[in-house]
Amino acid sequence: MSKGYFISIEGGDGSGKSTQIKKMVSYLEAKGYSVVVTREPGGTPIAEAIRNIILNPAYSHMTARTEMLLYAASRAQHVEEKILPALSAGKIVLSDRFTDSSIAYQAYGRDLGDMVRIVNEIATAGLKPDLTIYLALSAADGIARKQAQQQHSLDRMELETQAFHERVAAGYEALCQAEPARICRIDAGQEIETVFSHIRSALDVLLS
Ligand code: TYD
Repeated sequence: MSKGYFISIEGGDGSGKSTQIKKMVSYLEAKGYSVVVTREPGGTPIAEAIRNIILNPAYSHMTARTEMLLYAASRAQHVEEKILPALSAGKIVLSDRFTDSSIAYQAYGRDLGDMVRIVNEIATAGLKPDLTIYLALSAADGIARKQAQQQHSLDRMELETQAFHERVAAGYEALCQAEPARICRIDAGQEIETVFSHIRSALDVLLS
């Protein structure tokens, strides 16, 4: 039975993930792969319903543990209902964020520490991406880009302080140090085409 590839893409707010995801899909489909694009929190109806609770700015009093558990609950549903079946069918699953987001935002940003990793082991049944693309951007640059876009009202996470987003960025850097073979760190401050050329190289290595 063929087994697909699981790729996640990570980055702080405003790092240009959506643009690069579109380019990745075109590249992979042109090579003949069948690609399932999905996102977290979300990706299935139940997980999207949980997303609406998590990101709702009205719930500013949500506790850090509740937030961590809701992200994990949404991930558990996503893994079992969508990601694992697609991988078993030999597809490439491209997820806009996965467990690394919880490590960066909840373990580092919210200071919840190692419990986040443990909870996510349970939520994912141990599933890890084969490749993770991390688009690195400083917290200040990310916030500036997001404000320049002004496309939508800010969600609950985007309303967080710069100090929070700096802890998130530090969390991603720690992950990159810990897992250099899985995580491909790319400076998101570069031109779109330059960023994509690095992504393409990482994809080529994975698929070769
Ligand atoms: P989204 O609108 O998808 O933002 P982005 O374009 O930045 O991906 O919102 C997802 C938000 O949730 C984002 O601020 C990151 C945060 N998040 C966590 O804090 N933990 C997680 O496990 C995940 C998946 C996302």
